[in-house]
Amino acid sequence: MELSKRINNLGTGVFQRNDFRKQSYRSLPEGEQPFPLVDLSLGASDLLPPSSVLEVMKNALFEPESSSYCLHAATYPFREAVAAWAKGRFGVEVDPVDEVLLLIGSQEGTAHLPLAVLDAGDTGLIMDPSYPSHKGGLLLAEAHIEKLLLKEEQSWRPDFKSLSISQLEQIKMMIFGYPHNPTAQVGKQSWLEEAMSLGVKNQIVIAHDNPYVELSLIGNAPSLLFCQGWRDWGIEFFSLSKGWNMGGFRIAFAIGAKHLIKALRSLKGTVDFNQSLALQKGGIEALLRSADWPKHLLSIYKERRDKTLKGLQGFGWHVSTPSMAMYLWMPIPKWASSHGWDDEDVSAELLKKTGIALTPGSGFGDGGKGMLRLALVRPVDELESAIARIEPWWHAHS
Ligand SMILES: Cc1ncc(COP(=O)(O)O)c(C=O)c1O
Repeated sequence: MELSKRINNLGTGVFQRNDFRKQSYRSLPEGEQPFPLVDLSLGASDLLPPSSVLEVMKNALFEPESSSYCLHAATYPFREAVAAWAKGRFGVEVDPVDEVLLLIGSQEGTAHLPLAVLDAGDTGLIMDPSYPSHKGGLLLAEAHIEKLLLKEEQSWRPDFKSLSISQLEQIKMMIFGYPHNPTAQVGKQSWLEEAMSLGVKNQIVIAHDNPYVELSLIGNAPSLLFCQGWRDWGIEFFSLSKGWNMGGFRIAFAIGAKHLIKALRSLKGTVDFNQSLALQKGGIEALLRSADWPKHLLSIYKERRDKTLKGLQGFGWHVSTPSMAMYLWMPIPKWASSHGWDDEDVSAELLKKTGIALTPGSGFGDGGKGMLRLALVRPVDELESAIARIEPWWHAHS
């Protein structure tokens, strides 16, 4: 059967190929696996959410309304908690009625937004490299995609000045996010200000994907909510996945201009019901009573980061110190080219020989070519033994 062009366009990218390799590695008979798999390819924490959040959700699971469909009106207590969190976290008054929307994840929200604001053929701008749902959402909306290349020599800063006047006239929506995945840069408030003022001036929807807002190790994470103009042209996506380790539970939210929240709400009304009230109650607990809890993750990620960087450096793999907590963004070894290997080949070889799964940078766009992403999602001792496995592999090839 002929499938839609839309689906064909989504394609099977580097991510799926990497996933397939991991699955093949996992299903090798025991004797044939050189080592057990250490999966550092996903930004999914190995750490538990706050215990009070788990307790609240556990109890709420036994309430009959948690098993029922939850229509938008019943999400009000969650939206109210979001508004209280935003007031405490950013000092910004947010209207829980019209400016907040519950989401299944910031991935879901960012992937659906283009369908709500663009028509087929309209232009959307993404960063390259960027999180895959940014491009995926534009592909689903059959948008024309423009890319802004992030460069290492510019510290992965979006160079909005490189956009021409005619590009700015064409672009109807731009999506980006700092702290940035995959480059692991926290970014600067001034970069968001620049984007937002371009949005206001050129009537461009500015979507800022901010699931890592609580995970900055150096400097303060920026937020669109500090920028003038977000109530007219901005929408920001937050998540309980990273700061509160609730990724598997799938709960997030958007705060933004009323007309954008309304459009996304109406799109979502066609696609899904809201998350269970049990999850929402967990989210409320996290936002209201464990708002500071993410801070304790920082020392854990910092120790992981520092020990991993030191271990890699010990045998010559030099990686810049990332300012955000969860990832290392690593250049492939210089010697890789003498084997004819690109980032995907290096990650495939590394997996085959050492059982360590990293993400090839090209999975995030051409701008990620020649890079690998390592997620610091295992305890220090496991990260150190992973590095001890990489060292002989490195020496055998360099
Ligand atoms: C930039 C970015 N946006 C969104 C997501 C997905 O977050 P959520 O679990 O809220 O869907 C991720 C996950 O890694 C991410 O890195």
